[in-house]
Amino acid sequence: KGDPRLEAISAAIRVVPNFPKKGIMFQDITTLLLDHKAFKHTIDIFVDRYKDMQISVVAGVEARGFMFGPSIALAIGAKFVPLRKPGKLPGKVISESYELEYGHDRLEMHVDAVQSRERVIIIDDLVATGGTLSAAISLMESEGAEVVECACVIGLPEVKGQHKLKGKPLYVLVEPS
Ligand code: PRP
Repeated sequence: KGDPRLEAISAAIRVVPNFPKKGIMFQDITTLLLDHKAFKHTIDIFVDRYKDMQISVVAGVEARGFMFGPSIALAIGAKFVPLRKPGKLPGKVISESYELEYGHDRLEMHVDAVQSRERVIIIDDLVATGGTLSAAISLMESEGAEVVECACVIGLPEVKGQHKLKGKPLYVLVEPS
């Protein structure tokens, strides 16, 4: 740490108490997207980290992984693969369920989006329990791809998402202040 860009990124994220329900401190990255410098710092840091790691796939998790992933993919010369909520992708998909606080949800991926042995990074805006990222890892691994790392703008420290990520490294830029 000690990188002043990280301070700018932190400062550009708006925290909204009691959204979407009481007791949640919502980490709103739309204000980061409005701040050209801080948004660019975010993309630059990820690009510097992954540009020489032979990554051929950037996979973004719906919805906010879509706001960071494509810029990173273009800059490092990788393809972008959207991991979507159920029923959105028209082609042949594989599907993976994950637990939510109440109930469960699913992520889907087109089966022809990645080839066996491709090197993948998975991008999302935020990791909390790690349930969403674990489902994303499972989708990639079931197609034989290699998940090199999961990357998020924000990591919530109180929930140990790392333990759930099937042993894959997690890289986060900032923790909520
Ligand atoms: C949020 C966030 C991550 C996920 C992290 O998405 O953008 O995708 O939760 O939580 P976890 O680590 O506990 O799995 P959300 O479920 O709100 O979906 P949305 O982006 O479609 O609104």
